[in-house]
Amino acid sequence: MFSHFSKFAVSITKSMEHTRRNRIVDLLKSREFGSEVMVKGWVRTKRGNKNITFISLNDGSVIHHIQVVAEVARFDEEVLKLVTTGSCIAVRGTLVESMGQGQHVEIQAKEIEILGTADPETYPLQKKGHSLEFLRDIAHLRPRTNTFGAVLRIRHAMAYAIHKYFNDHGFFYIHAPIITGSDAEGAGAMFRVTTLDDRNPPLLPDGQVDYSQDFFGKETKLTVSGQLEAELGAMALSLVYTFGPTFRAENSNTPRHLAEFWMIEPEMAFYDITDNMDLAEDFLKYLMQYALDYCIDDLEFLTKMYDNELIDRLKGVINSKFERLSYTQAVEILIASGQTWEFPVAWGSDLQAEHERYLVEKHFGRPVILTDYPRDIKAFYMKQNPDGTTVRGMDVLFPRIGEIIGGSQREENLEALMNRIHEMNIPEKDVWWYLDTRKFGTAPHAGFGLGFERLILFVTGMANIRDVIPFPRSPKNAAF
Ligand code: 4AD
Ligand code: MG
Repeated sequence: MFSHFSKFAVSITKSMEHTRRNRIVDLLKSREFGSEVMVKGWVRTKRGNKNITFISLNDGSVIHHIQVVAEVARFDEEVLKLVTTGSCIAVRGTLVESMGQGQHVEIQAKEIEILGTADPETYPLQKKGHSLEFLRDIAHLRPRTNTFGAVLRIRHAMAYAIHKYFNDHGFFYIHAPIITGSDAEGAGAMFRVTTLDDRNPPLLPDGQVDYSQDFFGKETKLTVSGQLEAELGAMALSLVYTFGPTFRAENSNTPRHLAEFWMIEPEMAFYDITDNMDLAEDFLKYLMQYALDYCIDDLEFLTKMYDNELIDRLKGVINSKFERLSYTQAVEILIASGQTWEFPVAWGSDLQAEHERYLVEKHFGRPVILTDYPRDIKAFYMKQNPDGTTVRGMDVLFPRIGEIIGGSQREENLEALMNRIHEMNIPEKDVWWYLDTRKFGTAPHAGFGLGFERLILFVTGMANIRDVIPFPRSPKNAAF
């Protein structure tokens, strides 16, 4: 493979076959000094002198690196030369107590094998301290940085904790379809899914594209939400949730919007809006606590590097009672605040991030749940209040993020729902299946949607949503 390698390297390959790899996270916790260990990972730095080489190795199992100490005389010079930043190596050696600062253990190397070289002239992560913008352009390599390692491990832990929370609370995981034939939710512009020839699509006599000849025999899109399907599940299994990718084709180029993001949508039969708020608050606090319990090394790193209030902010959420008030009360507070806004505040218009953040960060100093929004700015399915102007929607607002959760009690009354559908010109033929749940054994129910990347933004303290998903999709950006 590497012609300039000595036979030495080859014989090591053989001797290392079938040897179990030790994860660095386990070794760093180990006190079994003197034991034989084997690690594989990517070199972060190499330094030393003519007698001794120190290699800092990371395998992604933990933010910390393990130090490998190699006596130069014991190794083939050619092999050590190929140990460069970014290269991948396997090391066998003895676990020893470290005399160096900042680590308890290190490995005295006996054998080193180069699994993959990384040319120092061209390896893009040769130096430390690249900007997050630069790293976005090398999304294929950024998982190898400390920052993205931390973000990806936290992302994983949060996904696991979400499933654990719901499983422990008697919820069932429902898989909503990603390709959908319905646009009832109205949550945003949709991406079309088609196999028609884009240069020569079949046309109807009126010049419109004839989707009856498309793959599904009708026009189909990528889903904006799994809620409507989750409702079908809740009307059978009582407590369900979805957790899947959702897509919105809006041209929102903000640090809080993606065109492809993941959403968690619990849906609960026999819940009203208060139960819904209680669940949302308990769920979010559980996730913050889980992060503190299981991701503390990564959180400490992110706190040190990016956001010195991060850990305190997570604790602050856990220890606070979320403030609950109506949209109408919030509007009164915002108008009375005397602030100047980029977007003016008036009853009936949607609140912007600046308003949401003012309420959370300046006025209340803790998370806020707003309820009872004007019905004209919310979806057709929200339960209508007797006042005829508001609906039982709820948004959970977080510091730095603004809206992290959107949800509602659902309109379970068939007549009220039909009236709303007609008012909003939603064709009955598109939602007949949804209406059936109100026709047959309808029940009060409620649910909400948590934007997974907004959660990860909050938990990691990162500033841009493009930095909390491995391969972000946003307007004019689907590079990888
Ligand atoms: O408020 P939204 O649009 O609500 C729904 O889709 C409902 N069907 C949820 C439900 O009741 N089951 O979206 C829910 C959450 C938002 O609060 C936000 O956290 C996130 O999804 N979100 C986005 N995250 C990233 N990029 C975008 N473009 C987002 N749009 C919404
Ligand atoms: Mg919303």
